[in-house]
Amino acid sequence: MQPHALLLPYPETGHINPLMQLAKHLASQGILVTFVNTQYNHQRILQNNVGRLPADLGLPIRLLDIPDTLPDGENRDNDLYSFNQIILNIGPALENLIDKLTAAGEEITCLISDALAVQTLAVAKKYGIPRVAFWPPSGSAYAFFSHFVHAATQGTLPRNGLLQPDEIVSFPELPSVQGWKLPWLIAEDQAINEYVFGSVIQTMEVCAQSEWILGNCVHELEGSVIPSHFKRLTPIGPVLPSSTLQRASAKDNLFTTSLWTEEDSCLQWLDAQKPKSVLYVSLGSIAIVDKDQFHELALALEAAKLAILWVVRDDLTGEKGTQLPEGFLERTQERMKIVSWSPQVLVLSHSAIGGFLTHCGWNSSMEALSMGVPLLLWPQFADQYINADTLAKWGVGLKMTDARQKPVGRENITAQVGKLMLEHEGEVVRARAMEVRHLMLKAVEEGGSSFNNLQAFVSWMKALPS
Ligand code: UDX
Repeated sequence: MQPHALLLPYPETGHINPLMQLAKHLASQGILVTFVNTQYNHQRILQNNVGRLPADLGLPIRLLDIPDTLPDGENRDNDLYSFNQIILNIGPALENLIDKLTAAGEEITCLISDALAVQTLAVAKKYGIPRVAFWPPSGSAYAFFSHFVHAATQGTLPRNGLLQPDEIVSFPELPSVQGWKLPWLIAEDQAINEYVFGSVIQTMEVCAQSEWILGNCVHELEGSVIPSHFKRLTPIGPVLPSSTLQRASAKDNLFTTSLWTEEDSCLQWLDAQKPKSVLYVSLGSIAIVDKDQFHELALALEAAKLAILWVVRDDLTGEKGTQLPEGFLERTQERMKIVSWSPQVLVLSHSAIGGFLTHCGWNSSMEALSMGVPLLLWPQFADQYINADTLAKWGVGLKMTDARQKPVGRENITAQVGKLMLEHEGEVVRARAMEVRHLMLKAVEEGGSSFNNLQAFVSWMKALPS
């Protein structure tokens, strides 16, 4: 019988996108995939992919949905606390779905769920299905979380996961992290941060009991940071389609799991720009910057006097309807293109892109590097500080100066943008980004480390009883 994998992401773009890329790989290996989103996200994906859904493209990927437990009207767009609530309470809805599928005579070979979906291990056990954890962030973040949780449970670091803002924690092979950069600091409220750290502990414990932990990372880049006494993370990244990595994709054959409408007009705009002349600016899907910071960023980009493609999400400053400074559009229209959401993978693979001012979300980082695009590193929260330090260590990006300052001033931003796009320092990180691109291409081609790991995983799944 054909193996059947049930895939469940964390309900946020940065987790849904890479899991869908894994789904495509599995489907190409003859595995039937059922991809389950929350109802809210499922509807958005359908709306934004008219004519490009897996069924339209002949892919054996079925999209299904389950309800979440959030009350109506709650923020399902950019609130990490809400996302956590959804994923921590997803168990009963998932059981209902499995009951329906099995009542219809279907068999599920394996459940592949986001590492943060801790309840799914118990669900899988109840039905006698193996659970595989999918880890979208970096291998370095996995190592940092594992080390920290281990130390906190041993009592050598605070059990509530909190440090003084300037306290420094260091683990082997990893960049040091100051207390104010800890990934679980998502709110002003200490109780919420402690609660989030509690779910991090649970995540790492449940990961360790899963059959595999598949990571969107590359052995040659991050294999050495994870010590052997932690459950092995299997690097299968970058999880992008090979056509994309060869810069050969066309919009028509890409099903993207986009939750927002992609403004494709930016691709035509890029066609009219000189090679490597455009700075792409995006802070990802959920980061919020306050109005002062947004204003400084806008004026900095204006002062940079470069061709710029800037993603200004409608909720980038927290509320709907982000306002640009007065007269900004008129002053910058000659050389700036602003969109509310871009087809980012296609943007990054465009020859006009010369650099990327990024929040260091791991997908954005992997997508850019797999195209050889150098980075200006401006982490905002969560795992992004660890990612930024890791990327700086690899030599593929320049850091934003005074990133702790709120707001980071316009002069700083303009100066760093200039260095990346126009100066020798930018040339150096661009050359290194190209080296990393080649290393990534090698990892996913036949015989490469990620290719082999994925093959081993698929063979394991095909050998499971179904
Ligand atoms: C979040 C965390 O911030 C990140 O650090 C973690 O690793 C994953 O979850 P997010 O803010 O969504 O990520 O950033 P990122 O991981 O970079 O993912 C964003 C995704 O949205 C990327 O796949 C990117 O291609 C896509 N995107 C972004 C678009 O398609 N269009 C855009 O305009 C912006």
